[in-house]
Amino acid sequence: MQKITTDDVRAKHLRITEPSPWVARFAPLVATNGPVLDLACGGGRHARHFLQQGHKAVLIDRNTDALSDLTENSAAEIITFDMETDTSPFGADGPLHGRQFDAIVVVNYLYRPLFPALVDALAPGGVLIYETFARGNEEFARPRNPDHLLISGELLDLATGRLQIVAYEHGRLEVTDIPGVKQRLCAVKDLEISTRDDGEPAVHCL
Ligand SMILES: C[S@@+](CC[C@H](N)C(=O)[O-])C[C@H]1O[C@@H](n2cnc3c(N)ncnc32)[C@H](O)[C@@H]1O
Repeated sequence: MQKITTDDVRAKHLRITEPSPWVARFAPLVATNGPVLDLACGGGRHARHFLQQGHKAVLIDRNTDALSDLTENSAAEIITFDMETDTSPFGADGPLHGRQFDAIVVVNYLYRPLFPALVDALAPGGVLIYETFARGNEEFARPRNPDHLLISGELLDLATGRLQIVAYEHGRLEVTDIPGVKQRLCAVKDLEISTRDDGEPAVHCL
């Protein structure tokens, strides 16, 4: 049997140009003031979705070859960077150091050491939209490596106490852009921002 390489998987993902339905669903929660970060952006399908809605976008990936058509777009900032070395993209020497985003979108990518920095890099009111493969996926398809599969409740743990969780799912998805066992989260950094008498954060339209 022919071995499937990471380049093969990347090429398969680059053929998908529509945004994930999960990202498209929650994109309207994002304010248009600051930029949206598309982390491990691949072909940039999610950044492109936000650019079409009038947002600015920062796209980061270790391979940005598929983004050449965006280099002249003044609303798009492209960063070529390997996020899994000793230099964190959010660390003192990283290209995202000190940056704040109105949204951070991560789809089909998991590198757990970045988790705390993702929440820190959200501006007040910023939205985290995260979707990637989870345990159980190994029975059907790649990825099968546990390092690339979320465990039960892992995205909830990332957000709990720091973000308002507005949506969460974990299960097998058959009718979606890339079928598999996925975990998906949408959460807003507004626990500290309240105009309500009871101190509860704002209610968002779902
Ligand atoms: C499965 S693709 C997902 C692309 C995009 N998020 C999407 O949903 O269309 C995973 C992406 O992660 C990127 N990636 C993997 N390891 C990386 C690393 N160490 N640093 C930066 N990007 C990385 C790959 O280059 C690839 O574009």
